Amino acid sequence: MCSIIGYLGLNQAAPIIVKGLKRMEYRGYDSVGVATFSDNQIVVRKGVGKVIEVNKAAKLDELSGNVGIGHTRWATHGMVTDTNAHPHPSSTGEVAIVHNGIITNHEELKQDLQQKGYAFKSQTDSEVIANLLQYHYDKTRDIKQSVVSTVADLRGDYAFVAVFEDGTLAAARMHEPLIIGIGKEGYFISSDVLGFVENTDEVIYLDNREFVIISKAGLHLFDFDANPVQHQITKVSKEFADVYKGEYAHFTLKEINEQPVTIMNAGMNTQLELDLATDFIRHARTLYITGSGTSYNAALVAKFLFSKYAKIKIEPIISSEAHFSPDIFEQQSILIALSQSGESADVLEAVNIAKGSNAKIISIVNIMTSSLSHLSSIAIGLGCGPEIGVAATKSFTAQLAILYKIVDKICGGCLGLDLARVSEAAKKSLADDSKIKEIAKKLKDVSDIYVLGRGIHYPIALESSLKLKELTYIHAEGLPGGELKHGPLALMDNNTYVIMINPDDSTYSDTLTSAREIKARGAKVIGISDKPSDVYDYWIEISKIDESMYPLVEIIPIQLLAYYAAVEKETDPDYPRNLAKSVTVK
Ligand code: F6R
Repeated sequence: MCSIIGYLGLNQAAPIIVKGLKRMEYRGYDSVGVATFSDNQIVVRKGVGKVIEVNKAAKLDELSGNVGIGHTRWATHGMVTDTNAHPHPSSTGEVAIVHNGIITNHEELKQDLQQKGYAFKSQTDSEVIANLLQYHYDKTRDIKQSVVSTVADLRGDYAFVAVFEDGTLAAARMHEPLIIGIGKEGYFISSDVLGFVENTDEVIYLDNREFVIISKAGLHLFDFDANPVQHQITKVSKEFADVYKGEYAHFTLKEINEQPVTIMNAGMNTQLELDLATDFIRHARTLYITGSGTSYNAALVAKFLFSKYAKIKIEPIISSEAHFSPDIFEQQSILIALSQSGESADVLEAVNIAKGSNAKIISIVNIMTSSLSHLSSIAIGLGCGPEIGVAATKSFTAQLAILYKIVDKICGGCLGLDLARVSEAAKKSLADDSKIKEIAKKLKDVSDIYVLGRGIHYPIALESSLKLKELTYIHAEGLPGGELKHGPLALMDNNTYVIMINPDDSTYSDTLTSAREIKARGAKVIGISDKPSDVYDYWIEISKIDESMYPLVEIIPIQLLAYYAAVEKETDPDYPRNLAKSVTVK
C-alpha cells in the first residue's frame, strides 16, 4: 500500500529519502511527502502526484537536515489531496509521522484528542498517530514512553515512523512490514529493503509488536511492553539491487522479458522445501489453494493440473472470501497459499483462518522474508527477483512453473516437464513483437474485450482479462468458451474484440467453433494459437508444445499485448491508477 521510510545519519536525509521513495513507489503512488529535522524544527513538504512530479514542484530533495522521514501514499482514508498526503505533523509541530496501514479506532481517538485541544487538518486516519504521540510526549517528555502509550491506544494494522523535535526517530510495527537498514553512514527504516538497498545490505527485520528508537546515541529495540529486544543483523540478497529498468522503457516490459529465465529458475533456491511440500501434498487428506488476483488465477490452473495429472482434488479459495466461509477448512488439511508479495492482507487472513482449523500452510511466495513465509510450515520461493511493475507478470509464470513441478513429481513424471522447452517457446514469443504492437494500436479505442478459453485455458483467459483491465483500463472479461451461447453472445457486435486462447490441443475445435459464432456477429477475433485459421482477423502465433504446457506459453503474448495497448493509450504500465503492488489492507 503506502511506503514509509526514515533516515538518520551523516548525510543529507532528503535526497536519500526521495531516492528510496522512487524505488518503493510500486507500493502506492498517489501522493508523496518528506519531512526533515534541521535547525531545531521539523519542516514538511508534500503534494499530489508521483515522486518525480512532486519532487520537481516541491523540491523535496532540497530539504536540509541529517534526519528525515518520507512517504508515498495509496489513499484509504480521505481523498487524494495535498493535505491528506503524509507526513502529518502533530498540531504543535513537535512530532511528524508517516504511516502505512489502517487505524481502525481513529475516529474515537480523534474525538478524544480534539476534546483535549489537539487540532486536525486532514481526513486521514494517520494524523491521529501524530497527535497521540504528541499528547503522550506532552505528558512525559519521554519518547520511549510516548511510543509505548501510543501503541497501547492504537487498534488496527500499521507501521509508522515518527520524527521528534530533537531529531530522534521512532518507528513501530503491527502487522505491516518494517525493516531497519544498518549502513556505515547511517540508519534506515523502511517498508521494503528496496528503500535503502543501494546504501546497505545489512538489515534487521522488526517483529510485530516491536518498535525502534534511533538517535545519534544509536539504535534501541523494544517490544510494545517496553522490554528491550535483540535481533540478529541479516544480509539481504544482492538481487534486490538489480531493480533498474536497464534498456527497457518500463519495469513491466523488463519483467515480461525476463520470463524465459525466471520460468527455468522457479523454486530452484528452495529445492528441499519443494520436495518436502510435494510429499505433504501427496499424502494430504484435504487440500486447498488460495490467493488473490493473479495468484488466484494461478490457483485455478493448479486445480486443473492436480485433478487431471496428479489425480488429486484441490479446492481453490479466493482469499478475500475465506472470511465469509470460516468453516470451509477441514481439520488437519493442507492449504497452499500463493502470493508474490507475501503481504496481501486477504491471503494472510485466509491463512490464519486455515491455521485455526490446524491446517498446515505451504506457501509459494516471492518475498521470502514476508509475513506469509513466517506463517507457513514450508515456504517455497518463486525466485524470480523483485517484481516492480504493479501488474504481476513473471511472478505468475513462476507460480505456475512451481505448481507444474509439484504435479509432475506426484504423477511420477507424467507431464514430462521440460521447462527448457517452455523457456525456448517463451523466447520465441518475445523475439518478434511487431504484430502484437500492431494489434495493440487497434485496441486503443476499444471499450470491451472478451478473452475466451476452455479447460486449462479458462484461468489463462481470466488472467489475460485482468492484465488488460489493469494496464489499459479497458473493460475486459475472461469467459469459458462454452458459456458464450448461454449469454455473452448477446454482446458480440462489430465494436467488440475477442481474444481466443486456442492452442492446437483437445480444446481446439470447440474453441474454433466459438470463434466462428463470434465472427458471424461481426466481432473481431484475435487468435492465440500455434495453428493459423481463416477465422482469425489477427493471428498471434505461439510455439507448439506439449498440451499441458500451453498455459505458460500462451499468457506471454497477452501480457505483451496489454503492455503495448497501455503504451498506446499513454497510461503508465508500471503504475496503473488506483492500484498498489502489495495490498496490505482488507
Ligand atoms: C494483478 C496483481 C494483483 C495481485 C494480487 C495478489 O496483476 O498484481 O491482482 O496478483 O493483489 O498479490 P500477491 O500475489 O502479492 O498476494
